[in-house]
Amino acid sequence: MKVLLLGSGGREHALAWKIAQSSILDELFIAPGNAGTKKHGKNVDLSPTDFDAIKEFVISQQIDMVIVGPEEPLVNGIYDYFQADEQLKKVGIIGPSKFGAQLEGSKDFAKAFMARHAIPTAKYGTFTAETISQGIAFLQAMKGPYVLKADGLAAGKGVLILSDLEEAKYELKSMLLDEKFGAASSKVVIEQFLDGIELSVFVLTDGESFKLLPEAKDYKRIGEGDTGLNTGGMGAISPVPFADASFMDKVHNRIIVPTIKGLKTEKITYKGFVFFGLISVKGDPYVIEYNCRMGDPETEVVIPRLKSDILDLFEGVASNTLSERDIQFIDKSAATVMMVSGGYPGDYEKGKSIFGLNGIVDSIVFHAGTSADGPSVLTAGGRVLAVTSYGKNLEVALEKSYDSISKINFDGAYYRKDIGQDVL
Ligand code: AMP
Ligand code: GLY
Repeated sequence: MKVLLLGSGGREHALAWKIAQSSILDELFIAPGNAGTKKHGKNVDLSPTDFDAIKEFVISQQIDMVIVGPEEPLVNGIYDYFQADEQLKKVGIIGPSKFGAQLEGSKDFAKAFMARHAIPTAKYGTFTAETISQGIAFLQAMKGPYVLKADGLAAGKGVLILSDLEEAKYELKSMLLDEKFGAASSKVVIEQFLDGIELSVFVLTDGESFKLLPEAKDYKRIGEGDTGLNTGGMGAISPVPFADASFMDKVHNRIIVPTIKGLKTEKITYKGFVFFGLISVKGDPYVIEYNCRMGDPETEVVIPRLKSDILDLFEGVASNTLSERDIQFIDKSAATVMMVSGGYPGDYEKGKSIFGLNGIVDSIVFHAGTSADGPSVLTAGGRVLAVTSYGKNLEVALEKSYDSISKINFDGAYYRKDIGQDVL
């Protein structure tokens, strides 16, 4: 099989690493990829959102399957673009339709979907510039903290959690009337605040059946003890100690099954990953958000724990035969710690030489934001490297990642030293 993987982060490096191990792979291309993906296939200089350029490449290279890493091409309708094209129709594409991708692309769509299928989530209301006075009244009638969410994609920045009512009203106005998040905040979802502990659960579905992947927990804030600004994610662990069999049963019965069934009964074409961002409130799971792709850095611990051939599973998705495929896991813990550029998630410099990568033996170093400069590897993003390790338990896995990190260096490197500590 000839495969094209879209994206350039740690998630895509982890997917490329796994795809490269498949017994049915002939050739792997990554667009645009990074200095790490290059070791597992051929990087091609294409933007994941330039569908015409992707089409040309897929046809000229006779690609059999396209795997979509990030959400943007999905929300923009890459699945539908392929279906509508005579030459591309037969190419397998791993990711939902544009309509299905609204589970991530529109918070209001996701909330209404959950309401229709009685999936547990925070109570909410959706407001626009026309209904702003109802929005203010909605805020006044509820207790803080106040959760305001831009309806559309806002690069992970569209959620505000405010303890003060006046501030919440001010922010609601700036989102709806002053386009604080551009068109993404022309609609705003206001939600009840849920107090609990978060985790990420993933399934792969062909729209009929699904396979549950290992769960993970990511660490979103820049500072230790989960303080400071939100980031794309500073590390992840899998398994999650509090996600025991009884909790995961609730997740299965109350959330996953009704979601997959809901997609099917509503005839929403969905062939790809569903990422359930969950919160456990006193042992009961609620959906905080859906994403239509894998998580990053969660992928860097989930995919290493997958034993089965990932292309066999993807083939099952593409041909609606996922239920006939076998899925097995590696019975080890995995942890990843992100090394980021100094200043991230604010301004940071790029182009710093990374030293020590060749000496790492106890970890897998997934590249998140790197570029190749001849034989050298340079920083090229805020999140630079995800250093993943296995262990017989999380403590051992984390110890190995921290030990490996101590051997890697670049100017301004920063990482959190407390990944996993809250649940160990
Ligand atoms: P989202 O983009 O919807 O995942 O929201 C970003 C982050 O805001 C989540 O990971 C949570 O930490 C937090 N959050 C979102 N919604 C709620 C809620 N209803 N209650 C508490 N925290 C929330
Ligand atoms: N790690 C969270 C996300 O990928 O959205």
